[in-house]
Amino acid sequence: MLERIAHFFTRTKKQTTSVDTNLSVPVHVAVIMDGNGRWAKARSLPRIAGHSAGMKTVKEVVKAADAIGVKYLTMYAFSTENWKRPREEVEFLMKLPQEFLSTELDELVERNVCVKILGSREELPSHTRQALETAVEKTKHNDGLQLLFALNYGGRKEICDAVQELARQVEAGILSAEQIDEKAIEQKLYTGGIPEPDLLIRTSGEIRLSNFMLWQLAYTELWFTDVLWPDFTKEHFNEAIAEYQRRARRYGAV
Ligand code: FPP
Repeated sequence: MLERIAHFFTRTKKQTTSVDTNLSVPVHVAVIMDGNGRWAKARSLPRIAGHSAGMKTVKEVVKAADAIGVKYLTMYAFSTENWKRPREEVEFLMKLPQEFLSTELDELVERNVCVKILGSREELPSHTRQALETAVEKTKHNDGLQLLFALNYGGRKEICDAVQELARQVEAGILSAEQIDEKAIEQKLYTGGIPEPDLLIRTSGEIRLSNFMLWQLAYTELWFTDVLWPDFTKEHFNEAIAEYQRRARRYGAV
């Protein structure tokens, strides 16, 4: 009997990955939340049920990141390509920020979380935009975890927008062409002033970037898992962090 109890505890312990916060914790973690559709399909549910389940994972991951002292957490919630999805699915996805914030905003405020949006806001339905902008406004003075929602976000569009803005400054005589260096471009990205992600997590077994933070991910550590986003837990998140802590980052040096 004692042996069985001991075995139970060993198993339980194995499943829990805790993060050693004495080692370096990534300052910025970016996440491509993928696999909602497959999660739903495996249960014979409509795709939107996968997105609802995925929203619960967002809550868990925000808490997990906050608990270990991550400073910036970027979640890829909707890409500029996702408009090609069926109308009902797009409409559902556009309701999620509102739904999420209606239950979570008070807690985010309490936790000192600051909400930000990355992406083009103009095309968003007004209810989505309003919910997000209210959250941005209500949390703008918070200096805890910075929670960035990439919504209607495209990495190439972000670079184009930045370059166009710089070109306008050249046209206006404010800037010379030679002054367009990496720093100038970085400052004009949606993430201007925010450090580049240290770690990128992508779920669901897909091993690609899908137009996400193309400039910012140049030296980011990449971590992929087969786990579908709705099944992703705090344990998986901590596993990714622990793996990050085992890696040696060299930035091209030796
Ligand atoms: C990709 O999975 C997922 C999305 C395009 C949407 C992600 C959105 C959420 C997880 C909820 C966001 C919540 C808030 C609060 C904004 P997929 O649908 O492409 O999955 P599949 O590849 O299995 O079809």
